[in-house]
Amino acid sequence: MRLAFFGDVHGNFEALKAVLEDMENKGVDEVFCLGDLVGYGPDPEAVVQTIMEKNIKTIMGNYDDAVGYSKESCGCSYAPGRETEVGDISLKWSIENTSEKTREFLRNLPKKLSFEVEGVRFLLVHGSPLNELLEYVKPNTPPDRLKKIVESVEENVVVNGHTHLPMVKWVMGKLVLNPGSAGRPKDGDPRASYMIVDVENGTVSFEIVRVRYDVKTTVEKIARNGLPVELATVLALGQTFDMGPGKVTFTLGR
Ligand SMILES: [Fe+2]
Repeated sequence: MRLAFFGDVHGNFEALKAVLEDMENKGVDEVFCLGDLVGYGPDPEAVVQTIMEKNIKTIMGNYDDAVGYSKESCGCSYAPGRETEVGDISLKWSIENTSEKTREFLRNLPKKLSFEVEGVRFLLVHGSPLNELLEYVKPNTPPDRLKKIVESVEENVVVNGHTHLPMVKWVMGKLVLNPGSAGRPKDGDPRASYMIVDVENGTVSFEIVRVRYDVKTTVEKIARNGLPVELATVLALGQTFDMGPGKVTFTLGR
C-alpha cells in the first residue's frame, strides 16, 4: 500500500497541482493532507475547491481554523515583527477571498485522524498530538518533549505538519514524520515538499519527495492581488524572511 502525505499548501495552487500530479505518476493508493490549506498564498479558494473535488482526506491546520472562523490571528507563536504583520494581512485577505462554502468546509475539518494500514497504525495531526493546531514538532524539539508527545499516542506512526520542515525521527520505537510544506517550504529548498510512505507486511518505508512547480505564476498572483512582497520572497528562497542575519542559506539553481 502506497500512501502520500502533504500539507501546508497555504493557498499555493501551482504547488498543489504539481504535488498531486507527481503523486499520480508515482502510483499512490491513498492521499492525506495535514492541513493549512489556506493563508499566505493567493489561491485559497481554488486550493480548497480542489481538495473538496478530489475528496482528499484532510485534517485542520491553524490557518484553516483561523479562516474558517474568521479569526483575527492565526495563533502562530511568531515574535512580534514583520512575519506576524504579514501573517495578519494575509489572513484578513484570505478570509475576504474565500466563499462561505469554503469557510464552512474549513470549520468542519477534523483536528486529527487515526487509521490502520496493514497492521500499522497512523495518527495525523497538524501540530502535535498534545496541541493539535499549534505546537511545532521540530528537528530541534527537546528529546524530553518528543518522548512526552510519543507517550501520549497509541499509534505506531505520527504524521504532522505545521513546521514546514521535512522530518523523520524514531522516538521510543515510534516514527514521527513530517512531509514538509507543499506550498511554502522553509528549509531552504523552494521546491514543493511531500512524503511517500510504503507499507508492506508491517514494514514502513518512506521518501521525502521534492517537486518543482511554477513558482513564477504564484509570485505574479501575489503581486497582482497586492499581497505583501515578502510572501513571494519566501517562495523564491524556500525559507522565512525573519531569521536574522547569518542564518539565511539557500542553494542557487534549485
Ligand atoms: Fe502552515
